[in-house]
Amino acid sequence: MRIDVVTIFPSFFDVLGVSLLGKAQGKGLLDIRVHDLREWTHDRHRTVDDTPYGGGAGMVMKPEPWGEALDAIAASAGASEAGPGPVLVFPSPAGEVFTQATARELAGESHLVFGCGRYEGIDERVFAYAATLGRVRLMSLGDYVLNGGEVASMAMIEAIGRLIPGVVGNPESLVEESHEEGLLEYPSYTKPASWRGQDVPPILLSGNHGAIAAWRHDQQVERTRMRRPDLLPDARD
Ligand code: ADE
Repeated sequence: MRIDVVTIFPSFFDVLGVSLLGKAQGKGLLDIRVHDLREWTHDRHRTVDDTPYGGGAGMVMKPEPWGEALDAIAASAGASEAGPGPVLVFPSPAGEVFTQATARELAGESHLVFGCGRYEGIDERVFAYAATLGRVRLMSLGDYVLNGGEVASMAMIEAIGRLIPGVVGNPESLVEESHEEGLLEYPSYTKPASWRGQDVPPILLSGNHGAIAAWRHDQQVERTRMRRPDLLPDARD
């Protein structure tokens, strides 16, 4: 999968070179290219923002550098890319909520472009223009506000990247995770069996695989009921 990231803070993404995603790039499973939006400015101050039409607090990202950045990425991918083009993801607290289902969906794509907004956001016309180059998704990590799209993009890239076959060494570890079955994950324990007065639940030492699976499922349901009742079927629609 190819991932392009456009940002005014490219160094935010240095950490993509470490851990599993770093290894995935080494293995050729992921091709991540980080671009500085200011490369597509033409004034001495490399200006990327301006005051909002209609007034109001804060600054808005200018459309021109974004247009040139997206054109350059589309042109560099163009020849090798047939079909509907890339998915262009713009992190935004005003977007649809990014979930494990979104991560799974996007993990099946061959090219993603992340556009990281700052300040009060990006001039709205950029999204309409981006829609001429591919499929646009405005995505929110949740109901809180970050300073910009960088941290959100990083979170999404990690959630998506680890679902690409070969990125996580043992694919079985992807199956029994929180959110994969619509439930939170069951609690995990390792040795020693007794630690600072706390014992591992005896059922896990029983060797009875059926009973262990049933206990784990009960734990998942109970945790979900306590912490995230909104995920349970009764709470939906
Ligand atoms: N940018 C600012 N806040 C955000 C959020 N909650 N999710 C995604 N992008 C953001």
